[in-house]
Amino acid sequence: MSANPPFSEAEALAALDWYRAAGVDVAVGEAPVDRFATSAVAPPKRPLPTTAGPAPAPAPALPLSSDPNETRAIAAAATTLEELRAAMDAYEGCALKHRATQLCFSDGNPEAEIMLVGEGPGEQEDRQGKPFVGRAGQLLDRMLAAIGLDRTKVFIVNMVPWRPPGNRNPTPEELALCTPFVHRQIELVHPKVLMTLGNVPTQALLSTNTGITRMRGTWKTLTVGGWTGPVLPSLHPAFLLRTPGAKAQAWKDMLSLKQKMASERSS
Ligand code: URA
Repeated sequence: MSANPPFSEAEALAALDWYRAAGVDVAVGEAPVDRFATSAVAPPKRPLPTTAGPAPAPAPALPLSSDPNETRAIAAAATTLEELRAAMDAYEGCALKHRATQLCFSDGNPEAEIMLVGEGPGEQEDRQGKPFVGRAGQLLDRMLAAIGLDRTKVFIVNMVPWRPPGNRNPTPEELALCTPFVHRQIELVHPKVLMTLGNVPTQALLSTNTGITRMRGTWKTLTVGGWTGPVLPSLHPAFLLRTPGAKAQAWKDMLSLKQKMASERSS
């Protein structure tokens, strides 16, 4: 009889949940490997090289740069969103890129008057290369629809365009590196208003440590290069999924956005 009976389905699902919460998102093999057993087996002896010569050079380290001045220069050189997308895709300096499946560039209408700024791609966004396509994104679509908007009328961008492993928050260094990409998109799209979703974009763009529960619902003014405009911090749809009681506040923010757009158009 096996000393380790197989998991029941419920136990296996609970274990999977635990792995996901711990940030595991890729299975690397069909069957588990018993590392204790493999390390007990002596490795086969390799023949000694017959000719003496210089040791092979170690593989070069990835050319990682973590200089926001570099991303600022890359972003500034892009004169269109397509150029910016290509430049971001070619950029190797952000460690997040090397764990992500692909670049998750922005979505929506590049001529939109409203720009929404999220935090960073999650699992679904990483797979599809598009922001806000998972459960939080579906809720966001419903919230937009409630005030007569959809993705043809907004432009959606994330503070970091590569998925942070395990959906953790981006670090201050990652944000500093990637913020120039967001700034450039604000300049290129030149929306009438911005809405930040949750703590991360609100604090990063408005340079504040104040939490989103105090910031939300209050219009601020932001200047980014040649763009100055109103910004409304609001709650992140993923937070609303976990805290449905907060939806009333998010609804107020959506109404405030709708009103602002009406007054922008009439002024
Ligand atoms: N959360 C975000 O902030 N952005 C996404 O694209 C998806 C979830």
